[in-house]
Amino acid sequence: MLWPDTTERSPDGALVIGGVAVADLAAEYGTPLYLFDVATIRARCRLHKQALGSAYERPKVTYAGKAWVAPALLQLIRDEGLNLDVVSGGELYVALRSGFPADRIAFHGNNKSPDELQMALDAGIGEIIIDNFDEIRLLDELTRGRSTPVTVLLRLNPGIDVHTHDYRKTGIVDSKFGLGISTGDAERAVQAVLDTPGLYLRGYHAHIGSQIFEVEPFIETVDTLFEFAGTMRDRFGIVPEEISPGGGFGVRYEEGDPDVALTAYAEQIGRAATLAAERWDLPSPVLTTEPGRSIVGPAGVAVYTLGARKVIPGVRTYVSVDGGMADNIRPPLYGAVYTAELVGKPSVGEMEWLTIAGKYCESGDVLIERVALPPSRYGDLLAVPAAGAYCLAMASNYNLALRPAVVFVEHGTARLVQRRERFEDLLARDIAPEDGYRT
Ligand code: LLP
Repeated sequence: MLWPDTTERSPDGALVIGGVAVADLAAEYGTPLYLFDVATIRARCRLHKQALGSAYERPKVTYAGKAWVAPALLQLIRDEGLNLDVVSGGELYVALRSGFPADRIAFHGNNKSPDELQMALDAGIGEIIIDNFDEIRLLDELTRGRSTPVTVLLRLNPGIDVHTHDYRKTGIVDSKFGLGISTGDAERAVQAVLDTPGLYLRGYHAHIGSQIFEVEPFIETVDTLFEFAGTMRDRFGIVPEEISPGGGFGVRYEEGDPDVALTAYAEQIGRAATLAAERWDLPSPVLTTEPGRSIVGPAGVAVYTLGARKVIPGVRTYVSVDGGMADNIRPPLYGAVYTAELVGKPSVGEMEWLTIAGKYCESGDVLIERVALPPSRYGDLLAVPAAGAYCLAMASNYNLALRPAVVFVEHGTARLVQRRERFEDLLARDIAPEDGYRT
């Protein structure tokens, strides 16, 4: 599960994904190039749906679009019957323009602007996940005069810690996200929503973090949400229709990473929800999971061209690629570890240890700290697996880099779904000086 499901090596050792030779794609579309295996995306959607569906009677799987959104992807997500979570007006705009049904979209975020909330209301959004009291006040103002209330969930902060990078922890008490249960904010927010005629409180949500490899924190989250729901039922007489313990299921980035057995996870999360509903004597609510990384991460591969080589005797050998932190900021930002293989030959036989550096003007722009590769030359192609989530989504124009092209591969054919940025795109937002641009 490190590489897309359809990955193979041809008899001459060349990397083939989705039935397409990766070298041919690089020749046609240039590098850096991001390719996605459609079969893997579909399989991951189905796996999540089936796993939760066989573990719990009222399952709902929502794709967390922050991992990466684009019209071509959203079409697959929609067709596979998943819902969508967006976190900004931009994501909502792209989703709506892609034809994603508004009533299957949930809107998250800790500081949604009045304009973003208005946009969501105008679109007829399925759910708004309220994060704080200011949002309740804004929604009160924006929903005055509406005939039907807007469906909302409350994002709770359950005070649960997880083993992941500090930047990816979102369920600890000291987090900008969510209404604290322990501080009493969560209960006060229930009261405030019940006092707001324009809002219908459908249930409770929590998201504890990302790239999590243990199931226990998810179970603890489910238990905490149900306990809160049971307490609120006793206090206010409200029965939740939906409980969402969020996303965050880890994926493998290198061989040594553990495998998240999603079916076993879903089974335990589903069982925990069933037991908790019984314990609190609540009719089974819809149980929602929100995978992002685990849907697209393993489906994506980044392809680079090897460039300059710098040998520092007794220290290390740097080989630079034609991308780096502008298309994948995860290594410098989180210390994320990736692996790679040459597109032209498998990693067997004679190997050398290399550090793969990016091309941007930062010493921290190192894509892979240490990887063993067969002997390579300037111009060879390098493929990095597990690059589908939070790479393109966090890509920038740093050093005025052009963001990469994106290709979907399936059944031996390739489809360009996003073209590479062009130099003209870099001037698209500038107001031309009086004498215009040089052509
Ligand atoms: N639901 C909510 C409310 C979230 O905030 C997130 C991720 C997800 C679901 C999906 O989590 P996933 O299944 O993808 O782990 N940029 C970081 C990850 C940030 C995650 C933000 N929230 C990274 O590259 O590791």
